[in-house]
Amino acid sequence: MSSIMLLPGVVYHPGWLDRAGQETLVADLRAAVRAAPLFTPTMPRTGKPFSVRMTNLGRLGWVSDKERGYRYQGTHPETGAPWPPMPAVLERLWNELSGFPAPAEACLVNFYDPKARMGLHQDRDEETFEAPVVSLSLGDAALFRIGGRNRKDPTRSIRLESGDALTFGGEARLAFHGIDRVYPGTSTLLPQEGRINLTLRRVTAP
Ligand code: SIN
Ligand code: MN
Repeated sequence: MSSIMLLPGVVYHPGWLDRAGQETLVADLRAAVRAAPLFTPTMPRTGKPFSVRMTNLGRLGWVSDKERGYRYQGTHPETGAPWPPMPAVLERLWNELSGFPAPAEACLVNFYDPKARMGLHQDRDEETFEAPVVSLSLGDAALFRIGGRNRKDPTRSIRLESGDALTFGGEARLAFHGIDRVYPGTSTLLPQEGRINLTLRRVTAP
């Protein structure tokens, strides 16, 4: 399968997961969300809610709230239970695309309804930036934007479709990135409009 370097360190893998694989993964995610329900994170200090809803898979999960800010923790903020395990296909995604010798520790699951977006930000709550960030898109297409280490650096935009994977590492590990918009009704994978993004990360140094 072909992959495309969008910027130094940013690699796009169109159609990484085929339709049958996407359907199996959505069924796995549905079961995971029953055990670890989607929650609405809030911004540190202001308490403003995110427009995406989230949950996590794996040993560690990324959470945010007004009181304690951005962090990783081993348990769901509402149920207190450990996060569900990552399905094997996500381990394969990490093994094939990260080039990192140790497994991913966290998989953030973001659910975007048709109006949700994600402002430009850096992924920098991890203890190590040695491993790339690996992400997989499911459901409706979305416009992803990525630039450089400084918020004002020029950016490139790409429309991510269901099954597409993207990695950013090396000099792009701390690149600002976000989702400008979702294109509702562009995929038949999910029973309703919206998009799921799975973001795999290494959190601690191996
Ligand atoms: C994120 O950066 O947390 C999500 C990116 C995406 O939805 O593709
Ligand atoms: Mn991010």
